[in-house]
Amino acid sequence: MTAVAAPMRLVFLGPPGAGKGTQARELAAAHHVPQIATGDMLREAASAGTPLGATAKSYMDRGALVPDDVIIGLIAERLAKPDAKSGFVLDGFPRTIPQAEALARLLGDLGQALDRVIYFDVPEAELLRRLTGRRSCPVCQSTYHVISNPPRREGICDKCGAALVQRSDDSEGTVRHRLEVYAKQTAPLLDYYRGRGLLATVEGEGPIDAVQAAIRRAVA
Ligand code: AP5
Repeated sequence: MTAVAAPMRLVFLGPPGAGKGTQARELAAAHHVPQIATGDMLREAASAGTPLGATAKSYMDRGALVPDDVIIGLIAERLAKPDAKSGFVLDGFPRTIPQAEALARLLGDLGQALDRVIYFDVPEAELLRRLTGRRSCPVCQSTYHVISNPPRREGICDKCGAALVQRSDDSEGTVRHRLEVYAKQTAPLLDYYRGRGLLATVEGEGPIDAVQAAIRRAVA
């Protein structure tokens, strides 16, 4: 008899540029669960020109967090979709204590609970290097780095062939502000989840494959 895989309900937590998106895409695809990335959802809403997107853009462009009630509403809708029933990788959510508390309530209402919170530990100098060299695909959301993870053809997405762009919040000044926001508003989640026995720390510096292997060990 074939074993049925247990649901996988994970949070990827870490500063901007830690590699959450890069790793969440791989792990979610390998386990056939959705990668739920609030940043990607907000950028899609912004490029579609929805009222939510316009509000979100005004915060994202200056590296500030979008208000909790907006994000919590977005996640509540997303977690209620059928594809999230058997698991998910949350990438970039929660980012504040009120968001974490709302997530616990939402999952409780669905009769679910988190399995693990993976914290990506990466030094600040490396985060700056990664973000200022990042190129992103506006169509399929894949990310590249001009030096450490270049596409096969310069400026073109390997996966879907779209022209790559530099995110408007990846300028050095905005990246520095995002790092400050992370330290103040998101880093307290480390103690929150450590206290609940859910936190696993992964060394996020080093080759992408090595980080991926460390994550697989942490969730096994
Ligand atoms: P979001 O899109 O979530 O951005 P972020 O958390 O700042 O994270 P990034 O996407 O910048 O980095 P990442 O960790 O995913 O790294 P990546 O894999 O791309 O959020 C953007 C904005 O949306 C926020 O500022 C806020 O305004 C708003 N928002 C989103 N969620 C919100 C929430 N919950 N509440 C309120 N507001 C919210 O990798 C980075 C680069 O490094 C890439 O170039 C990649 O190729 C490279 N790289 C990856 N791994 C490695 C490696 N091991 N070695 C070398 N290079 C690597």
